[in-house]
Amino acid sequence: MADTAVLPDTATPIVKAADVAYVRFSAPDLDAMERFVTDFGLVVVHRDDDLLLSRGLEPMPFLHVVHRGPAKFVGWAFEVDSEEDLAALADAVPGCSPVHDIGGAEGRLGGGKRVHFVEPITGFVLEAVHGQHAEPLAPRRDRHTYNRAGVDDRVGVEQDVVGNRYPIKKDPGPAEVYRLGHVVAAVPPGAHQAFMTCLADTFGMLVSDSARMIIPPGAEEHFPQPLVELIAATGSDVMFQFLRMDRGDALTDHHSILVLALMDGTPEAQFSHAAFEVLGMDTLHSAPEVPARPLASLQTRWSQAQSSNGVASL
Ligand SMILES: [Fe+2]
Repeated sequence: MADTAVLPDTATPIVKAADVAYVRFSAPDLDAMERFVTDFGLVVVHRDDDLLLSRGLEPMPFLHVVHRGPAKFVGWAFEVDSEEDLAALADAVPGCSPVHDIGGAEGRLGGGKRVHFVEPITGFVLEAVHGQHAEPLAPRRDRHTYNRAGVDDRVGVEQDVVGNRYPIKKDPGPAEVYRLGHVVAAVPPGAHQAFMTCLADTFGMLVSDSARMIIPPGAEEHFPQPLVELIAATGSDVMFQFLRMDRGDALTDHHSILVLALMDGTPEAQFSHAAFEVLGMDTLHSAPEVPARPLASLQTRWSQAQSSNGVASL
């Protein structure tokens, strides 16, 4: 198979985005969505008949937007460094809106300016924002303290480890969300590679890790033939890639976007999941045990890929 592993370096992307800012959905039942995001650990900061906005503890005005409408993933927003970056996108991206003040409830919560466009490969609405402001929120809980061999950091001090080894003493609520971690898009084979190139060219995204279909001699029988044929037909061996922001020497997440090849034959790009960062592994594991908050519709996962902190997926 062709050795076409990763994206070419884009020497001059239109902008180099700083982070992902929020995800945007529509849903027919905002009451159900409000219960869901609250159980998940987000804080609802605006609710009216047609709009639900939720945030985390870090100083972003909102991370999660739901409009009343058909059940649908709309898209996500990138945070950029300057209003000039917004203007560059407006000038260079076909069909991009002009730079405008963020209006309505979203603007009242955090101000800022933005642009948006319908990305033609996926149909997602991609936005870029700059200048939003918010104060951080105080967390309800702190990290657990553990003793370990030779180091007694906690002596004679009880701590609440709800759902773990003691009877429940109080309801700590769900794992509090701090920030939006990453967004995962599943895109039909072939188009998935074009979309990754679009993200590199438009927002300066870089490849952190690649999953490539490289079949060792003699191992062909272990690879499902339909999958092999789907990827081969794209002319590349890249199945999915973890993409990060280009922040130079500054630290950034291992990935802010993951683009997968959609393998079920669905012709339209889909939202896979968004991951939100929480305090740590303890809160991530204890939150689903809270009996007052049945989370039947909520899958909480943990990941070590991003950092030592917990990552809850929605
Ligand atoms: Fe993830």
